[in-house]
Amino acid sequence: MQTLQDAPALRAAIRSWRSKGQTVGFVPTLGNLHAGHQSLIKLARARTDRVVASVFVNPTQFAPGEDFERYPRTLAQDQAALADEECDLLFTPDVATLYPYGAENSVMLHVPQITDTLEGAHRPGHFDGVATVVCKLFNLVQPDLAIFGQKDFQQLKVIERMVSDLSLPVRVMAAPTMRADDGLALSSRNQYLSTAERARAPMIHDTLLKMRELLAKGHTWRVLEQVATAQLIRGGFEPDYVVIRRAEDLAEPAEGEQAGLIALIAARLGSTRLIDNLLFD
Ligand code: PAF
Repeated sequence: MQTLQDAPALRAAIRSWRSKGQTVGFVPTLGNLHAGHQSLIKLARARTDRVVASVFVNPTQFAPGEDFERYPRTLAQDQAALADEECDLLFTPDVATLYPYGAENSVMLHVPQITDTLEGAHRPGHFDGVATVVCKLFNLVQPDLAIFGQKDFQQLKVIERMVSDLSLPVRVMAAPTMRADDGLALSSRNQYLSTAERARAPMIHDTLLKMRELLAKGHTWRVLEQVATAQLIRGGFEPDYVVIRRAEDLAEPAEGEQAGLIALIAARLGSTRLIDNLLFD
C-alpha cells in the first residue's frame, strides 16, 4: 500500500488506474481506525478494482470546545490496519492541501433541511464541515463508490443528499454498524471512556433494542422516546436526544406510523459523547 500526502501524486495514481479501466472505491476517515473502518475497506475491496482510504482530522467539522485537539492520531497503526485489508492507497493530506486558503476562509457547503435537526442542532456547523471535506475529497479521489458507516446515520443522509443535489458521479453505500460483543457501537471515541463508563456504555444499544421491542408491541413512538430518555438518565447518561424518526428524511413520523422508522440516540457519559441508532425494519 502506498501512502501519499500530495494531491498531484494522488491524481497521478488514480489516472494510471483509470487508464487501465479500473474502478475506484473510497473510504474517507478521521483515522484511529478500528474494525468498523476495516469492514468498510472489505466492502470496497469486494466491489471495486482499487481501494483508496483517507485519514484526515478535518478541522471544519469540529465546533469550538469539541475534541479536535485530542482526537487520537495514530497513523502508523492505521497504515498497518489498512495494509492488512489490502487497501491500495492511503491519502493523508495536510490542512493546506484540502484548505489552500485556510480552513477559516474555505468555500463551505451547506446541506439544508436534513441538517437542521439532531446532530446538526447539537453540533452547529458540523455537517457543513463534513459536506465540504467529503466533496473536496470526492473531487480529488473521483471514486466510483464511497462507503460510509451507518452508525453516523445522519451524516450518511447528508452525504447522499449532497451527492444527489450536486450531481456528483459517485455511488454512496451504507455499511452496517460494527459492534463489540456487548453491543456497544465501535467508535474511536470509545477510548475516552473510563473502565466504569465502558461497562455502562452498552446501555445505549440495549435501549435502542427495547425501543424496537416496545414499538412492535404497539406503544406510540412519543411514549417510547420519553421512557427511553428516562431509562438513560437513570443509567447515568445525559441524553442530547432520544428519538424515533422516519429513516428516509429524519422527519417526525405521523401518529401510529410504523414502517421505515429509525431510533437515534446521542448521549454523554462523563465527558464522552456517544451516538448510535437502530433501523426498525
Ligand atoms: O465519519 C467520519 O469519519 C468523518 O466525518 C468523515 C466522513 C471522514 C469526514 O471527515
